[in-house]
Amino acid sequence: MSSSTLASDADTGMAMTEVDWLRVHYDACAGGYSEQLAFCELERGSRIIDVGCGPGFFLPLLAQQLGPGGEIVACDLSQSHLDHARKRHGDEIDGCTIRYQFANAVELPFPDGSFDAYWTANVSQYLDDAQFRRMLAEARRVTRRGGRVAFKDWDAALFRVEPSETGTAQRLMDACNRAFLAGSSAPVTMNIHRATTYSHIRRWMTAAGFRDARQHSTLIEFSAPLSEGHRIWCERLLKMFAQVAHEVQSPDQEFWSQFSTKAPAETILADPDFYCAEGSMVGVAFVP
Ligand SMILES: C[S@@+](CC[C@H](N)C(=O)[O-])C[C@H]1O[C@@H](n2cnc3c(N)ncnc32)[C@H](O)[C@@H]1O
Repeated sequence: MSSSTLASDADTGMAMTEVDWLRVHYDACAGGYSEQLAFCELERGSRIIDVGCGPGFFLPLLAQQLGPGGEIVACDLSQSHLDHARKRHGDEIDGCTIRYQFANAVELPFPDGSFDAYWTANVSQYLDDAQFRRMLAEARRVTRRGGRVAFKDWDAALFRVEPSETGTAQRLMDACNRAFLAGSSAPVTMNIHRATTYSHIRRWMTAAGFRDARQHSTLIEFSAPLSEGHRIWCERLLKMFAQVAHEVQSPDQEFWSQFSTKAPAETILADPDFYCAEGSMVGVAFVP
């Protein structure tokens, strides 16, 4: 699979982490993301950690929630993403302090109970099940008793693309998940595996020892006629899925291959009935 289609960050090589890919995705989903953050009800003036902050696209929304006097420690495994975030936002957004720290989600370099709240978006998909359990355990450890923990990622069960035969999008998700479970190391299959389990986030959190877990999904929709931002995002996403579908020998090859072999104007992207949707799921719970 070509690295340009995979949009990998230069530092980590992880797929779908390149800055421009993340920017286009964030901009296309911004409305839905505001709704997800509102569900988390982060407290004003609190000190939080943003794990896997990437280039920092969520920082303004988080800072808006915390307000003046709040503090965000933005962490990532990619130094280039941290540098990008610092250059973009500096040490403060509207009175909310921002700090940057190189850190691994499964082994955070902070003492127990360091934060009032924990936030992470679109990161757990890079972790297998054992690593994800460690990430949850670390979230519990670094958040103070009574503190709030929020895990956001995408929910593969809500992925749709139209016009297509019924079930086309889900057959691709299933094929990727099965490939991953059968031991495939094909890029993006682990991300999709996590996304196919993300509708269980409440149970993941309860099993990790959190209390009062609840979850909320937001459907983010891209419908013809597409805005310029949505068009660019859908083109990139579907082109990547065409590569993934080929890699895992998913059913519906003819459908998916249109996005890698034809110009966008010759694909369903130009259809007046074009519709694509992705689901975003957030789980919120408390440290006992
Ligand atoms: C898809 S990006 C999401 C970035 C940002 N949260 C957003 O939603 O725009 C995933 C980010 O997680 C980071 N990441 C992946 N595994 C990580 C880990 N084990 N610890 C910390 N960061 C990690 C990547 O470097 C990347 O910046």
